[in-house]
Amino acid sequence: MRKKIIAGNWKMNKTVAESAQLATDLVAAVKGQPYAEAVDIVVCPTFLALDRVSGIIKGSPIKLGAQDAHWENQGAFTGKISVDMLKAAGVTYVILGHSEPRTLFGETDANVNKKTLKVLAEGLIPIVCVGETLAEREGNITEKVVSTQVKAAYQGVSAQDAAKTVIAYEPVWAIGTGRTASDEQAQAVHKFIRGLLSELYGSSVAEAVRIQYGGSMKAENASGLLKQPDVDGGLIGGASLKVDSFLGIIKAA
Ligand code: 13P
Repeated sequence: MRKKIIAGNWKMNKTVAESAQLATDLVAAVKGQPYAEAVDIVVCPTFLALDRVSGIIKGSPIKLGAQDAHWENQGAFTGKISVDMLKAAGVTYVILGHSEPRTLFGETDANVNKKTLKVLAEGLIPIVCVGETLAEREGNITEKVVSTQVKAAYQGVSAQDAAKTVIAYEPVWAIGTGRTASDEQAQAVHKFIRGLLSELYGSSVAEAVRIQYGGSMKAENASGLLKQPDVDGGLIGGASLKVDSFLGIIKAA
């Protein structure tokens, strides 16, 4: 049985003070709740708020995630944050290859691969995001797109490391649009990804990797999606910014 993982990607939202408030409210809400132990809960604030939120969630069941990382330890890389720095701030998970950096900031498959290798080498867990655009879905190339992204991200990743990773399937057309993939659409792609992992690494690795769904997941549609055999959690944007809506998804999981 794979433990479900519900992660809130706060994206470029909330000041440090607002992030601290949300983290404080979440810690209070899940305190002593058995469901909070049954699910892995992750929050991914902005880099600026990581340190503060880390202190707040310490000792709670909530884990810390970052929204990106660079593949070098330090140096002349203006604007970037290293995995070392994230680790020192108490980060466990790192979101990589999200469609927003891919489509808006020129993130490439090759860079996602370097970052994935670095995050794993430092003992953190990458959440590797993949997903097709609407045009790609309508052009019937969803599997081709997702397969290219997965294969590129995992180049050089050992089976032992691959088993620890998380993949987030986020159809680009469902992100922030209110348009969720149907339970069946999500399951079909998740099953495809697991099959691909099986081809690459064998079935025991494929069975170990957790595959999250992301794209307009909310408390109202979460249980249908999370009931699918290959949907092992959610990567949540908008609905993770408020305690009630995020909690609703955690409870559904
Ligand atoms: P929304 O939940 O706002 O659609 O965002 C999904 C997402 O991109 C999470 O990484």
